[in-house]
Amino acid sequence: MRFRAIFKSRRNLSSRSVLFEYEGCSVDVRQAGDGPLLLLIHGYPLDGAMWSSVARKLATRFRVLKPDLPGRTGNPIRATGTIGSYADFIASILDRLDAPVGLAAFSMGGYISLEIMRRGHPKVSALALVDTRAVADDEAARAKRDQSIATLRAQGVAAIADAMLPLLISPESASKGDFAERVRRIILRQTPLALESDLTAMRDRPDSTTLLPHIAVPTLVITGERDVISTVAESQAMANAIPGATLVVIPGSGHLTPMENPSAVAQALGDFFEKALNPKS
Ligand code: MLT
Repeated sequence: MRFRAIFKSRRNLSSRSVLFEYEGCSVDVRQAGDGPLLLLIHGYPLDGAMWSSVARKLATRFRVLKPDLPGRTGNPIRATGTIGSYADFIASILDRLDAPVGLAAFSMGGYISLEIMRRGHPKVSALALVDTRAVADDEAARAKRDQSIATLRAQGVAAIADAMLPLLISPESASKGDFAERVRRIILRQTPLALESDLTAMRDRPDSTTLLPHIAVPTLVITGERDVISTVAESQAMANAIPGATLVVIPGSGHLTPMENPSAVAQALGDFFEKALNPKS
């Protein structure tokens, strides 16, 4: 189901946001830069700020949008616990954009982008799957999601931050200055309702492995060398299954490559999208 959405440009505001009307709510979608369009989708248990450093670097050559998914502090739309409803929201943004779009999607964002590819969207002209997976959760993974929901209900968002940080970032990144604290701060500002919606959505997501050979836009796969959620081996298999796709491995990084090594991720995304969105260059 598609929802009515109206974009009103607020490009003169210093924050450079776009006001987006969706399901009767106003959502500010942050954007920066000028040039070919890039839409960045964040992962769990985070929000669009996980892309900030990468977006700043890409904004020298692209117009970059980094929405918060429904239920986040910056997005009053109710989160309803399905990848499909998150894909509806992202598709409504795509509907309003007036040029081909490069979609870069991190982890849970990747699950959403695969749903968008399954449905097909004429605006998506290139895809970057960043530290994500095509397989569905197996029984053990589904049981862990239920455990996480129980933990969230009993102990709140801080317990999720404690459990997720070692999975998100490599030990090297964790020991760098206040880096782990910065990631924790993003997690702590999420509401329990949003995180429960994410967990339910990820638990119940469909398998996308059979979709991969049918992805018909230029695709880049990125993963961290030390990613324990979407491993190098699994990312390589995903790249092998998508026609023409290549894999970039970010050395030393864990799962959260866009925050752990924004320079390397922005470089890989920028070089890929520049060519993919402008095939004559
Ligand atoms: C994410 O980074 O979005 C999630 O950790 C992915 C997952 O748990 O499957």
